[in-house]
Amino acid sequence: MNDESPCIPAHVAIIMDGNGRWATQRGLPRFEGHRRGVEALRRTIIAAEEAGIRYLTVYSFSSENWRRPLPEIAELMGLLRRFIQHDLATLHARNVRIRVIGVQDGLSPDIIALLDDAEKLTAHNTGLTFIVAFNYGSRREMIDAVRDLADEVRLGRLSPADITEELFSDRLDTRGIPDPDLVVRTSGEQRLSNFLLWQASYSELVFSPVLWPDFDRNALVAAIEEFRQRDRRFGGTPSAVGGVL
Ligand code: FPP
Repeated sequence: MNDESPCIPAHVAIIMDGNGRWATQRGLPRFEGHRRGVEALRRTIIAAEEAGIRYLTVYSFSSENWRRPLPEIAELMGLLRRFIQHDLATLHARNVRIRVIGVQDGLSPDIIALLDDAEKLTAHNTGLTFIVAFNYGSRREMIDAVRDLADEVRLGRLSPADITEELFSDRLDTRGIPDPDLVVRTSGEQRLSNFLLWQASYSELVFSPVLWPDFDRNALVAAIEEFRQRDRRFGGTPSAVGGVL
């Protein structure tokens, strides 16, 4: 938990869903939903900073999104490119640290360079850590971690008996980032869709009915409010976790 504000989740992770439906409901092309989704993302970053959230992770492009029509994939890539080009300086000025999780396979070299540069430029910032899950899939991430550990065992550097949860977590894309306290999915869908499956083991899940392009400070506050009502026990009893929440 966040030491400064014990009732505010330190890490909020968001599955930004419902762009397509938002556009279809208005007779607009799906692209328009994604474009308005970027505006919702900008609002949410500011609202998260103001709420005292320390880590904000957003699911921007999943490993499964490659199954979408090529023009939609190109649009999502273009939006990320323009978002970094347009917003990086502002985010840096606001002391935001950017981290990217996911793999580079399939991404164009200019996007890889933009993401690398954004991480390097903001690496020492001490404000909100903004984690962009791009070309990310949790099962792939875990398989890669297992391969790393298996290699270390094969090379004789590690014994299988010494593999712990911490050691495994340290091989994930999210190494060094605390697990999310709260995972929010918008648009009323209720599943994790290969997002932070290991890291969300003890997260509170909140399903917001709001379609992502309409997400704003009020919707974030409502999700935090729902989180605050929950009794987090981490498998123990309320007294066993020292009255967290
Ligand atoms: C899900 O809506 C959303 C996505 C697949 C992409 C999320 C992307 C953005 C919010 C904009 C991109 C932002 C950056 C910075 C890259 P959906 O299309 O699955 O909606 P639907 O379920 O209503 O069809």
